[in-house]
Amino acid sequence: MNVLGIETSCDETAAAVVSSTGDDSRPWVTKSNVIASQVQIHREWGGVVPEIASRQHVRDICGVVEKALGDAGASWDSIDAIAVTQGPGLVGSLLVGVAFAKAAAARLGKPIVAVHHLAGHIESIFLEHGAIPLPAAILVVSGGHTSLYFVPQPGVYRLVGRTRDDAAGEAYDKVAKLLGLGYPGGPPIDRLAREGNDQAVDLPKPRFTHADRNPPPPDLMSRPFPPAYAHLAEFSFSGLKTAVVRHLQERHVSVASGLTVPTDAGPLNRQEVADFCASFQRVVVSSLVDKTFDAARWLGARSVGMAGGVSANSRLRQDALARGNREGLPVFVPSLTLSTDNAAMIAAAGLRKLERGETSSLDFNAYATLPIDGR
Ligand code: KG4
Ligand code: ZN
Repeated sequence: MNVLGIETSCDETAAAVVSSTGDDSRPWVTKSNVIASQVQIHREWGGVVPEIASRQHVRDICGVVEKALGDAGASWDSIDAIAVTQGPGLVGSLLVGVAFAKAAAARLGKPIVAVHHLAGHIESIFLEHGAIPLPAAILVVSGGHTSLYFVPQPGVYRLVGRTRDDAAGEAYDKVAKLLGLGYPGGPPIDRLAREGNDQAVDLPKPRFTHADRNPPPPDLMSRPFPPAYAHLAEFSFSGLKTAVVRHLQERHVSVASGLTVPTDAGPLNRQEVADFCASFQRVVVSSLVDKTFDAARWLGARSVGMAGGVSANSRLRQDALARGNREGLPVFVPSLTLSTDNAAMIAAAGLRKLERGETSSLDFNAYATLPIDGR
């Protein structure tokens, strides 16, 4: 089966062709994966401007899909189904992909399947690595989300924790803006952190008094999951951002309206910026790794996965792999192209649903927020 995946939830217009192999240990293969990034356009504004994003998707979608078909050596007739991101994301952006996918499915007379964006990030791990030991604890960590899922079987996603405030990628983007490093903030902070001393700046690690420090009471571990299970691991990054602002103010760096450092006003030299980046990254990564591994232990997980844009972070990958080695838990992370937003992961999540006979009717809508639909 050949599935055309379409992803337009934020500022990447993406299309991909993914095929099923019939081999359970490696069920899917990526035939093409095309991404038109709008990052250069939004950089000028310091972040994603929703209307500009929607308009750029309209411009790019036809060419991106044509290239995905061409790269795969596939004709429209060889496509068996279309998978498209339904949400969560920017509604104006999502609607471009959804409307395009519906028109194509109607024209071809082929099934369409609506996909949850985070199910796509989770399935990027299975697309990359094939079958992994289950149950797994999978962290989706991106610009919009920091959510931990328990995956007992393929295609089953149970939310067991999330951020109380900012997503980790959002914290990277905000801190990079404060340091005058541009948008998106993850890659420059990751690069500069390698030159910095991660103990140079004393930044607070978010602490909670309950679930994340003590195992949950045994009755919470029973199946089916009670709602309280969704608080097994809580993340928080907004306090860390405030601490960075305070430190910068102490260094007499002008922080206008909380979130802009005129780059020429700061007395920080390159080494000091690198130290800030390394210290910030140490706190974010240790919070992500500690909570994910604690939850994995409580859940009896046999593997740990990390996906989403922030999973491209070199220290997160390194520290998670080291912790996994120490605890005897294999760690699975997608390759860099599958970490950030792409359509191959959406096609994979679509295949997961199609393989159990699920398709969508042509009247489904796009949603800014959407509960994950794994059963
Ligand atoms: O998954 P993604 O492409 O889009 C969303 O669904 O949000 O993630 C984008 C986020 C941005 O916040 C970006 O700063 C972050 O991923 N990111 C990184 C790195 N590369 C991208 N964060 C930390 N380190 C990186 N190397
Ligand atoms: Zn994403």
